[in-house]
Amino acid sequence: RKLSIIGAPMDLGQNRRGVDMGPSAIRYAGVVERLEQLQYDIEDLGDIHISQPDRKEVIEDSPLRNLYEVAKGNEQLAMTVDAEVQKGRFPLVLGGDHSIAIGSLAGVAKHYQNLGVIWYDAHGDLNTSETSPSGNIHGMPLAVSLGIGDERLVNIGGYEPKIKAENVIIIGARSLDEGEKELIKEKGIKVYTMHEIDRLGMNKVIQESINYLANKVDGVHLSLDLDGLDPQDAPGVGTPVMGGMSYRESHLAMEMLAEADIITSAEFVEVNPILDEKNKTASVAVGLMGSLFGEKLK
Ligand code: ARG
Ligand code: MN
Ligand code: MN
Ligand code: MN
Repeated sequence: RKLSIIGAPMDLGQNRRGVDMGPSAIRYAGVVERLEQLQYDIEDLGDIHISQPDRKEVIEDSPLRNLYEVAKGNEQLAMTVDAEVQKGRFPLVLGGDHSIAIGSLAGVAKHYQNLGVIWYDAHGDLNTSETSPSGNIHGMPLAVSLGIGDERLVNIGGYEPKIKAENVIIIGARSLDEGEKELIKEKGIKVYTMHEIDRLGMNKVIQESINYLANKVDGVHLSLDLDGLDPQDAPGVGTPVMGGMSYRESHLAMEMLAEADIITSAEFVEVNPILDEKNKTASVAVGLMGSLFGEKLK
């Protein structure tokens, strides 16, 4: 199988610097070597270019922080991802903050009629400029991909929406804003909060998720925010939330997805080496990628 690694050193979707070094930290933790052992044909395409905001032009006509640069970076990412999928290669995107899911999904979704999405995250990332408590675009990419939000984000890649609400599953949610909860209800988005994960166990949650998507979708994008894990296991993230999914639960989830062989594109985001402990979070990310790409099956 052929896999292309794409770094997206974006830190403009939120306000803590350092997450732009996520791709470097993940490479340093050995992602290429790890996946090569699994007999993948790996190509590391390096990082896409993210232009920095012009400090002189601080006036913005929008409550969305760094809207122009985030939009531009995501257009770039969408084109790169699109080209890899076109070549029959699995795109593995390394973040960067979660705003880059806008570009990943824009690049992937045009190749599918019904793309499924597994959103592994403490957060819903379903805000709009109206509901966002922060103005941070990393809290919006799932809404944007559903076609909800600022048109300059929603139309990235030249089409909208990228995905349908019925094809989305959020796993690990424990910090949802009021507007996000309303949107989840209104759109009927399937969510496994930490409560359900505790009750059912990760085994059941992933089994149900696989069954739910099985007959509906023609591909599944995994969007894994490292803050979905408990901060004890993944401390190097900008918006940690206590009470998350454990290292073991997360590996089980990846192993089950590998076994079901349903994931067709993925991104691992929000690794911030400045906030980390000796690159632990990047190492955890690489370990999870190992499981997702079939380490256990070998
Ligand atoms: N809900 C909060 C916001 O909109 C936090 C979002 C955190 N998102 C993330 N990808 N870490 O600002
Ligand atoms: Mn999150
Ligand atoms: Mn529209
Ligand atoms: Mn997120």
